[in-house]
Amino acid sequence: MRKIEICLSPDLIHRYSLENKIVVVVDIFRATSTMVTALGNGVNSILPVEDLETCRALKQKGYTIAGERNGLPAEGFELGNSPLSYLNGAFQGHQIAMTTTNGTLAIEKSKKGASEVLIGAFLNLQTTTDFILEHKEDVVILCAGWKGKFNLEDSLYAGALASKLSEHFDRDCDAVIGMSDLYLQHRNNLRPFLNQASHAKRLQNHHIEADIDFCLELDVFDVLGRLKNDLLVRF
Ligand code: MLT
Repeated sequence: MRKIEICLSPDLIHRYSLENKIVVVVDIFRATSTMVTALGNGVNSILPVEDLETCRALKQKGYTIAGERNGLPAEGFELGNSPLSYLNGAFQGHQIAMTTTNGTLAIEKSKKGASEVLIGAFLNLQTTTDFILEHKEDVVILCAGWKGKFNLEDSLYAGALASKLSEHFDRDCDAVIGMSDLYLQHRNNLRPFLNQASHAKRLQNHHIEADIDFCLELDVFDVLGRLKNDLLVRF
């Protein structure tokens, strides 16, 4: 039977084998939600970049640059990390270079040996589920967390995806059992439950509530975000 695992922090990824597996990287608030929204609104591609200076320099090469640190837009960048910025095809046809506090680092750490790297969000949960069910590899869900620590929103998404796949996968991973249960307990009150999440509080302190609401919407985009030669493209 196919196997599914959840890695709750990028700092633990060295404990998992990604060889020939499908890796789903998730950063609900907000990196992967923003990436799915951008691809769903006609952005050509997204280049995830680890550091600010490398990303900033890509402007000279014709990229539209997007940067965020600690929830706030990075200085001198055209875009921060709000999914709302990409709605209505605002950046249709653009190639984006993006750097964020945790999400882009997690994507970098997910590449080693994986047969596929997908970006996951509640906004495209069913599309990601369908893709995985059409394939045969084992799956690892990598939560971006916060600076190496566990976070609630990514882990709940991991529980949601694992629950949707549960009939087809062997779940002998404690994180899968725990997070699936947590999701089933809170799937009907995600927003009030996640109000207490540390990064939700951080964003609320920056008056970015609208992003939180949007990132928790289910299946808004029938878009699969997939890494191809270091570029995130829609499939
Ligand atoms: C991250 O990468 O940590 C997040 O996307 C942060 C944010 O967008 O607020």
